[in-house]
Amino acid sequence: MRLQGKTMIVTGGASGIGLATVERCLKEGAKVVLSDLAGSDGAARAQALDAMGARCLFMPCDVTSTEQVDALVANTVEQWGSVDIVFANAGIGGTGDAADTTDADYLRTIDINLNGVFRTARGAATDVPPGLGQHHQLRVDPGRAGAERHRGLFGGQGRRG
Ligand SMILES: NC(=O)c1ccc[n+]([C@@H]2O[C@H](COP(=O)([O-])OP(=O)(O)OC[C@H]3O[C@@H](n4cnc5c(N)ncnc54)[C@H](O)[C@@H]3O)[C@@H](O)[C@H]2O)c1
Repeated sequence: MRLQGKTMIVTGGASGIGLATVERCLKEGAKVVLSDLAGSDGAARAQALDAMGARCLFMPCDVTSTEQVDALVANTVEQWGSVDIVFANAGIGGTGDAADTTDADYLRTIDINLNGVFRTARGAATDVPPGLGQHHQLRVDPGRAGAERHRGLFGGQGRRG
């Protein structure tokens, strides 16, 4: 139970790597806010995990919105008093070859995979209650440049802890 007593936010937590992280961190004793888009499976996933005895809440958040990201952090602090760990995992894959990628597709990918990680990290870093967080460090690991057919676009995950 290495995360006993810790509070955590996972963005993009309704599926894939995010959901696997939520499940593992719950097993390690953390209280986890599973966050994802409002229309995702996140609410049902969190409800099922919470019903199994873990402490898991769903909070909808689109990481392209500073307002929603800041509200996510503020609501977590209001609910549980702190945010100890953040996994800025929300992301999308590339849309195809760079030559076939429109400006709109490229900019949307950047807004989610890069700017979304920054918004999440900034929100968590600025909403740490006095007395908490001074020993924490922020680590952001941009993902690799995607598969061969997706070169030029990239994903990113961050971790604060
Ligand atoms: N799977 C891989 O091989 C791989 C490799 C490198 C990087 N990554 C990155 O890891 C992360 C997770 O990958 P995955 O394979 O689990 O993907 P996934 O598609 O299974 O999960 C991503 C989640 O992010 C959510 N999401 C998408 N846009 C969002 C937004 N604007 N706001 C909030 N949530 C949003 C989706 O609803 C989804 O639940 C992504 O950032 C991805 O780019 C994945």
